[in-house]
Amino acid sequence: PLVTTGELVGRAAAAHCAVAAFNVITLEHVEAVIAGAESVSSPVVLQVSENAVKFRYGRLLPLARAAAAAAEGASVPVALHLDHVQSDDLLRQAPDAGFSSVMYDGSHLPYAENLAATRAAADWGHAHGLWVEAELGRVGGKGGEAPLNAHAPGARTDPAEAGAFVADSGVDALAVAVGSSHAMTARTAALDHTLLKRLAWALEVPLVLHGSSGVPDDELAAAVAGGIAKVNIGTALNLAMTGAIRQFLAAHPEAVDSRTYLSVGREAMERAVAGAIRVLGPDPVT
Ligand code: G3H
Ligand code: ZN
Repeated sequence: PLVTTGELVGRAAAAHCAVAAFNVITLEHVEAVIAGAESVSSPVVLQVSENAVKFRYGRLLPLARAAAAAAEGASVPVALHLDHVQSDDLLRQAPDAGFSSVMYDGSHLPYAENLAATRAAADWGHAHGLWVEAELGRVGGKGGEAPLNAHAPGARTDPAEAGAFVADSGVDALAVAVGSSHAMTARTAALDHTLLKRLAWALEVPLVLHGSSGVPDDELAAAVAGGIAKVNIGTALNLAMTGAIRQFLAAHPEAVDSRTYLSVGREAMERAVAGAIRVLGPDPVT
């Protein structure tokens, strides 16, 4: 069934585990995420990023409606989240499109501007029933931007600044920069677990890890133990899908029907989803 992100993250945080949030770009991603979550009987978040909307000719509704229909038909709880939103126009489409939550991304802005824009987004979101996540510090690596040095001064989230940011913006969850980076195709990220513990201690809201595709399993498990309650995964699905399709087409140069390779790609994503959820720990309620 379709549930809210706030409910899933709140439940995960209370149980000291994390809910996996997968970025979906195509209908095959949507179906694979739900099938993968069903195979391990776990709740899951389907998230659509502003970039994915741009790819779909700028239209949110076709993919959102498909994701909502798939969620309603799922045997596990599924929530819909709008990810990395910078456009006010897109933010305002979220409630009617079936999303219970948004991540407003002002991480590229200087602190005061990020705070002002995030507070406005949170005020509007809360008035319209949304759970709102924001980012402080810079996870980096989005949209093909030059890879950010995750160890550069100012890139990491500062605990004292984060405390003030959450209090002054009123957000429901915070994405923190603790050493991960978006779009990594090798799982070589090393997280700063000391910083993560300080952030978890300083903040009362659940913490979110972005760029999780580049984080090894043991580091992910440690991050969950350290206070991460939502784990965002995107690139890992594309790696699984593209790798499987590339292999299939090389072995079957005569293939024409797109369903033959899309189903191979979908199955590879389904396995990746199940594997990632297992690392995050069992959901004790489901
Ligand atoms: O918000 C989306 C995530 O941070 C995904 O990052 O593609 O590096 O796994 P990733
Ligand atoms: Zn992200």
